[in-house]
Amino acid sequence: MRDVIAEQKALALEKFIPIMDDEGSALLVETVRNEQPEKILEIGTAIGYSGTLMLTASPKATLVTVDIDEERLSYAEEFFEAAGLSKRVRIIKEDACYLLTLLEEKFDFVLLDGPKAHYSSMLDYLLKLTTEDATIFVDDVGYLGLVDNGEYPKHKHRTIVTNMRKFIERVESDATLVSERYGQGVMIIKKCKNPNC
Ligand SMILES: C[S@@+](CC[C@H](N)C(=O)[O-])C[C@H]1O[C@@H](n2cnc3c(N)ncnc32)[C@H](O)[C@@H]1O
Repeated sequence: MRDVIAEQKALALEKFIPIMDDEGSALLVETVRNEQPEKILEIGTAIGYSGTLMLTASPKATLVTVDIDEERLSYAEEFFEAAGLSKRVRIIKEDACYLLTLLEEKFDFVLLDGPKAHYSSMLDYLLKLTTEDATIFVDDVGYLGLVDNGEYPKHKHRTIVTNMRKFIERVESDATLVSERYGQGVMIIKKCKNPNC
């Protein structure tokens, strides 16, 4: 039997495709395993590595996953097939910012691992598209350590860093959300049913 996870990691390395690191992946698997979500939305499919991890950790879950990169999505499709997961996955090739304006279904788990400069503008859509006790797992909020260093960002990273800081501030000041940071990378956001939870 093929070891799809090992193949995905090898391909990502060979083709310089960014996928979640081992620490983030382990936390993702642990979170999904504990919560057993049924409907997962993933922003940022790449080659299907994190999608494969989530579907394996939550055997009843289905996944809607979006990416803008056609070549990566064709690898993802092949890997989901090889892992026997295709029937539980809907792959969408689209700009995630646009897709979020179109979706109407509700998800109980989101993995946000796509265009970092747009997380702050995606947040309201994600809150609308999720159930009242959903979890939003965000990877790489620290962005190369530049988000938390308190410095004015250099031109090349300015939009991402400024917008990521806005995203974090917005999450942390929302009384209907509980969030926790893990290392420099991951933020786990839980929606809570009661105000001021
Ligand atoms: C860090 S990678 C995702 C890694 C994946 N979650 C994993 O760990 O296996 C981020 C992905 O977001 C995609 N992306 C960037 N901008 C996007 C956009 N506007 N809409 C959809 N996908 C986008 C990139 O093509 C890239 O594959």
